[in-house]
Formats: sequence, structure tokens, C-alpha cells
Amino acid sequence: HFASVARVPGDPILGLIDAYRADSNPAKLDLGVGVYKDAQGLTPIPRAVKLAEQRLVDSETTKTYIGGHGAPEFGEQLLRLVLGADSALLRDELAGATQAPGGTGALRLAGEFIARNLPGRGIWLSDPTWPIHETLFATCGLKVGHYPYVDASNQLQVEAMLAALAQVPVGDVVLLHACCHNPTGFDLSQADWRRVLEVVKARELLPLIDFAYQGFGAGLDEDAWAVRLFAAELPELLITSSCSKNFGLYRERTGALIVRAADSSQLADVRSQLAAIARNLWSTPPAHGAAVVATILGDSQLHALWAEEVEAMRLRIASLRSGLVAALQPHGLDERFAHIAAQRGMFSYTGLSAAQVQRLREEFSVYMVSSGRASVAGMAEQRLEYLAAAIARVCA
Ligand code: LMR
Repeated sequence: HFASVARVPGDPILGLIDAYRADSNPAKLDLGVGVYKDAQGLTPIPRAVKLAEQRLVDSETTKTYIGGHGAPEFGEQLLRLVLGADSALLRDELAGATQAPGGTGALRLAGEFIARNLPGRGIWLSDPTWPIHETLFATCGLKVGHYPYVDASNQLQVEAMLAALAQVPVGDVVLLHACCHNPTGFDLSQADWRRVLEVVKARELLPLIDFAYQGFGAGLDEDAWAVRLFAAELPELLITSSCSKNFGLYRERTGALIVRAADSSQLADVRSQLAAIARNLWSTPPAHGAAVVATILGDSQLHALWAEEVEAMRLRIASLRSGLVAALQPHGLDERFAHIAAQRGMFSYTGLSAAQVQRLREEFSVYMVSSGRASVAGMAEQRLEYLAAAIARVCA
């Protein structure tokens, strides 16, 4: 049976985890997968999460299944976090959350929903985008197209993006990154978002907004600005929300697909389809991470502590960005890499070539994705000079 099975290359991002682990160089630096690390190079469990977990250990009475849409209290709290606690959509029951195993699970659920229920619709991704967007939607059988986003000179191309979206077939799906664009770190301005919204309306496109980094760009509410604008202005919208990064719950696989519909009956129709699709994908979602999130968001003290912790991560990443540019200054490279300080979120499209990335790995044990994407969130203050010197060497 298995003799005919071909071997495929490892995942371009997750494969770096193994390569980094296997590297015995004590100076190694992991800027590969998007995982936040503290100054000691560890990925801490937020204190709010630990406290919520302790509470759950004492209070949890059963491990029976949670329903197809996940835990209702998680869905309610997440909707408030994403759409705003005072959102009219929640009062009018025009939005619902279906829990999924992480943001990736939510994307898969969205892709299967589109393939099954909106036949013939293509999906349009930014060029570049997270590589799994490409393979995941293709796996769902969707026709995948691209709109320009960041060009070879490593600059945001808003006019080209808008011109391309204006040519997309009426009714197609367009995937947008809410904030902290992965892989580039370049985000749209509020004025840009309003222009995208006009094109979406004119072409009657269905936006699927990937919201994986809430709190890592400009703040928890600030990062939701475009999501909330689109949810207020459009009758129909899909949003994938991830709790992996902002709650530090990576391995607990916690996220949701949020649907905004024109009326509550339509919402119920769509949600019935999502539950049916999820049943065939993962049956019911994992409970623990969602219970942690619901516990935190449902308790004012834990909520406040968590918000502080997210803000501390956000500010530290921003200071690592400016710190790296400062460390590149003695090498005469601060202007060339000034964009690193201006980009937002965990990632930076550095502009380094695949060959330079390879040299960084082979000669300095610095790991980043071959596209030149560096996870700034994986840097450490005391390693910035090492990194800057390594970059200078491969740029010489
Ligand atoms: C990344 O892009 O590194 C993160 O979104 C983690 C992942 O699953 O790839």
C-alpha cells in the first residue's frame, strides 16, 4: 500500500521548530514560527491563564462533550472581544461564533463552508500571505487568486491592491488580515480600509477577515477597528479569531469562526451548516483553551490582568523592533532596515533574500522563514547585537 506514497518536504514554518531544536549552537536564535518569547527565550503562560486554569481544575465537574459550536460562554465572550462589548450586532443576534481548533481550524471551517455552500466562488489572498492560506483553501477545493499587497521592493501596494480587487468577479471571497499582516507586518491605514470597504461593496465581495493577532498591533480595541467597521457596514461577513497568541494558548488550539449575517434566521441557517461541517472535521472542538478564555473574559479582575499582559507583550515587541534597527546602525544598515520599526505585530518582512536567510541559518544559527520573514516576537534584547552583526555579514 505505502510503497507508492511520495515524501513531501516538511512544513516551511513548523519544520523550523525541529531544525532549531536539533541545532547544538548555544548562540542559536529562533525567529521562525510566530511564537512570543520573553527575555529568557521562553514562551510564558500568561498569569491570567494560570489563574484561570487553577480555578478550572477546582471547579470543572465533567469532561463530557461540548456542543458542535463549542462552549456558549466562550462564544459570547469572544464575540464581545472581537466586535466590541456594546456591539449592536450582539444585541440584535446578528453574529455568532463557532468554536474551532485554533485560527487554522476556523479557516478550514470557513473554507469548507464556502466550498460547500457558495459554489463557484473563488477566494482572493494577499500576495504574499501566510503559506497555509494557500494550501488550506486549495485543499478545500476553492479556486485561489491573489491581489498585490507587498511588492519586491518590500513596500505596501495599496493602489495596486485596490485596482486588483476592483477586477475580482462579483460575489467572490476576499481574505483580509485584520492587523499585524502575516508575513509582512505591513498594515493598511484606516483610510485604506475605508477604500477597501468601498470596493468590497461595489463588487459585492464576501470578506473573510483573519484576526489572529488581536492586541499585538496597536491595542486590543484598536486592532479590531477594521473588523468592527466591516461588521457595521456590511450585512454579511466571516471572521476567524485566534486565541493562540494573545492568550498564549498555542497548543490548546483555541479559536472561532464568527459569522455576521443580515438577519437572525439567516444566521441560524449558516450556523447549522457550520455545525454539520465541523462534525465531519473534528466532531466537537477541544474544551480546555476555550474554558480558559471564557473564565478570563468573564471575570473583571482576570480580564484586566490579561489585558495588561497582552499590552506588555505588544510594547516589548515594538521595543525589539526599534532595538534591532538601533543595533543595525553601527553597521550602517539602520536606514535600509528602518521598515522593521514601522511594521506591526509579530512578524517582519525583512527584505532579506532566501540565500541570505540560508546563510544566517548555516553560519549563525539564526532561523527565519525563507521568504525573509522574521518573528520579531522571538528575539531577545540581549541578542540584538548578535543578530545585527549576523545580518550585516550576510548583507556585505
Ligand atoms: C506563523 O505563521 O508562524 C504562525 O501563524 C504559526 C503557524 O501556525 O504557522
